[in-house]
Amino acid sequence: MKTIIEPFRIKSVEPIRFTTVEERRALLREAHYNLFALHSDDVLIDLLTDSGTAAMSAAQWGAVMNGDESYAGSPSFFRFEAAVRDLMPFKHVIPTHQGRAAEAILFSILAKPGRKIPSNTHFDTTRGNIEGNGAEAHDLLIPEGRQPGLVHPFKGNMDLDALEAFLRRHGEAVPCVMITVTNNAGGGQPVSLANIHGARDIAHRHGKPFIIDGCRFAENAWFIKTREPGQAGRGIKDIVRDMFDGADGMTMSAKKDAFANIGGWLALNDDELATQARTRLIQTEGFPTYGGLAGRDLEAIAQGLTEIVDEHYLAYRVRTNEYVSERLGALGIPVVKPAGGHAVFVDARAWLSHIPPLSYPGQAVAVGLYEVAGIRACEIGTVMFGRSPDGSERPAAMDLVRLAMPRRVYTQSHADYIVEAFGELAAKKDAIGGFRIAWQPPMMRHFTARFAPLA
Ligand code: F0G
Repeated sequence: MKTIIEPFRIKSVEPIRFTTVEERRALLREAHYNLFALHSDDVLIDLLTDSGTAAMSAAQWGAVMNGDESYAGSPSFFRFEAAVRDLMPFKHVIPTHQGRAAEAILFSILAKPGRKIPSNTHFDTTRGNIEGNGAEAHDLLIPEGRQPGLVHPFKGNMDLDALEAFLRRHGEAVPCVMITVTNNAGGGQPVSLANIHGARDIAHRHGKPFIIDGCRFAENAWFIKTREPGQAGRGIKDIVRDMFDGADGMTMSAKKDAFANIGGWLALNDDELATQARTRLIQTEGFPTYGGLAGRDLEAIAQGLTEIVDEHYLAYRVRTNEYVSERLGALGIPVVKPAGGHAVFVDARAWLSHIPPLSYPGQAVAVGLYEVAGIRACEIGTVMFGRSPDGSERPAAMDLVRLAMPRRVYTQSHADYIVEAFGELAAKKDAIGGFRIAWQPPMMRHFTARFAPLA
């Protein structure tokens, strides 16, 4: 059969609430046109993030009831640890309450003033944790990864020549090499197995630990299976193990490819580094067998990890985004190509070319989408990245709008509805205006800034 279906049936449902265009206009005004300020029950389809928004399976909810809440030595921890190690055989698995907590612990040890940490692209919390400890975060993405319309199978790849040159030049200052799979900040684009191994080998030749930000490891493995020569015949688990083969550590947000609503971990092989990390964990998260999580969360993650590597799930997951991406393309809406593993990214700067970057075309698309259809998306552009450290404004590299798909939550007709909403917007696109920022906090402004429409 060729039709790719949702590989599940639905046992429990949540109603979604319909609002009228007039109601949404009023809600937008009250929210100062910042979609983070909306109440989520005023949102019909929420594509703000794929993080922590997954539908858990019946088996996960069942596992939740087996959660053992002992402070130390809970069997839930050992099930969690075994499930992680089944895919990523690291010596030390340290639970944390989410991905950024794992980053905070790792970089409290590795990042110091004067140090430089290269990656394909650091996610913003990773960058924040590196810079917060006084070190520099460097993105060494292949040039193809910066061209939204260009089709390339692995646009998340690290520029290995640049990495080699970086280590030759700055080797002394580099405490580790990182790679993010998939590259969320660059459009959810995957990294090839050859590239992961290439980066690992370069890091090791220079005596540096190699750390993987594995948030979307299963989506990345699916892209390896379907796009990388010689990989088609392999199982997903086998590919995942190969991705992590020889790596020295990983950070993980279980809110992505573990189907959990909360959680994460830091995994390491080095005993001394792990001892330092556990000491820090006890200060900030909790005892090493729960690390900021309840036993039931550890159970949900352990079960989720057995489900995420299912090929029927991954085929449906990736196809949903490809489908939306193709249909938007057919409407003449420029999108980042190919579609990402967890999201479709619309190139708002190219689409609303009458709105200059400093009038926030991405914000205009996101607000328009909510007004027209009650869909919430997320600007990833000049609102998010356009303020220089000195406070001045500059256009971000791109003005994108991310339509992030929660896992197992929406169906084919929701995808069709999203496409129809873009059709409505496209019909009046030349009348869509930009925004100015009426108020903003000193940092991380996209979460709380207030906007005003330009006349
Ligand atoms: N690394 C990547 C690649 C991520 O996408 C995220 C989170 C994190 C680390 C941090 O994990 O949220 O559990 O602390 N990304 C979410 C998103 C927030 O919407 O893309 P966390």
